Amino acid sequence: MTRNADPDLWTRARRHLVRYGGTFAPVIIERAEGSFVIDADGRKILDFTSGQMSAILGHGHPEIAAVVADHARTLDHLFSGMLSRPVVDLATELAGIAPGGLERTLLLTTGAEANEAALRMAKLATGGWEVVGFAQSWHGMTAGAAAATYSAGRKGYGPAQVGSFAIPAPNAYRPAFERDGAADWQGELDYAFALVDRQSTGNLAAFLAEPILSSGGILDLPPGYLAALKRKCVERGMLLILDEAQTGIGRTGLMFACERDGVVPDILTLSKTLGAGLPLAAVMTTAAIEDLCHARGFLFYTTHVSDPLPAAVGLKVLEIVARDGLVARAATAGARLAARLRALQQRFACIGDVRGRGLLQGVEIVADRATKVPAPDLGDAVTRRCLELGLSMNIVQLPDMGGVFRIAPPLTASDAELDLGLDILERALESSV
Ligand SMILES: Cc1ncc(COP(=O)(O)O)c(C=O)c1O
Repeated sequence: MTRNADPDLWTRARRHLVRYGGTFAPVIIERAEGSFVIDADGRKILDFTSGQMSAILGHGHPEIAAVVADHARTLDHLFSGMLSRPVVDLATELAGIAPGGLERTLLLTTGAEANEAALRMAKLATGGWEVVGFAQSWHGMTAGAAAATYSAGRKGYGPAQVGSFAIPAPNAYRPAFERDGAADWQGELDYAFALVDRQSTGNLAAFLAEPILSSGGILDLPPGYLAALKRKCVERGMLLILDEAQTGIGRTGLMFACERDGVVPDILTLSKTLGAGLPLAAVMTTAAIEDLCHARGFLFYTTHVSDPLPAAVGLKVLEIVARDGLVARAATAGARLAARLRALQQRFACIGDVRGRGLLQGVEIVADRATKVPAPDLGDAVTRRCLELGLSMNIVQLPDMGGVFRIAPPLTASDAELDLGLDILERALESSV
């Protein structure tokens, strides 16, 4: 019998764990190392999601492990009103690499928390309180972030925050607006903001956006879109908050995804990738916005704000990313990954679309390319088969579109590891269609 079936563990899991979403993978993970996780049978499973889209340096990176061990002994957690060198050093480093002018940083723990802080800043700075987001977004599970999260989890929890509005994210594969037979994101954006203007009570504070909507099915905002969105925000006196939880720190082949567009948000949030899998998040903004918020009494006092241990991890992550050229690596490895995925698309009619940037690629599974009818069961079957063959894949299933594989290997994954994953995906497709 496979040790993954351990009846005692699964019985206790069923008895004592809260089920927080989806189903658990039918494996018990005992270790994680590099690009692989290792199950109870000692089987190596290639991690094509960097854990929860976070472990950009792979698992158990020795230099990160050393920082954790060192800081656990010497400088771990402090009274939140105390500062330490790693915190100031990381804020300084981030100011050096962030897009222009985002020179002030608040260091926190999770992505939801960072977005929560960003929204509070935007409300204080603008005096408004209405927040607009994309209808396919994911920004986190705390109240403010969840109110701006439309891809899942809205039903059954009472009212979302008053003044929460959604607009459609542009989807080039399934455009809602077309002009002369081509996707018309500008027309869609204009129409969406006309509706926002009608609903708004005149208190718009912020637009919160992912540059590539990940949980929304790897919807890549087309070139020009972010600049147009920023103009909409400026016209209304609202701030643009970009959530680069998944796209920040090199994943797309640039340090930050918004660099492609030359658009600097008013507030940038980072999480997942900044700690490379350990809990660290950052909110970055301009001196002008921070000064204004401070003057108005900005409060975001948490247990783990400015903790030295995770800050030291973040510093090491940035050092390794720069030293090992991982931003450029994400671009070249991403090109290799995308080329192979497009080759698979030629072979398998169930691959409707391949999209994304760098090492964040989406593969949309449909019943057939002509009809684009979603095929959720097929997507789930391929996911299961991949795991049986030694590849961990994640598929997001959303209404009105096919399931989308979110492929996001560590930036440290070798060409051989990428090829291994793609070979397994190919075999899984062969046996599932
Ligand atoms: C784009 C984005 N923002 C925010 C979050 C929330 O981060 P956390 O789960 O760390 O609170 C997520 C989580 O998946 C995310 O994908």
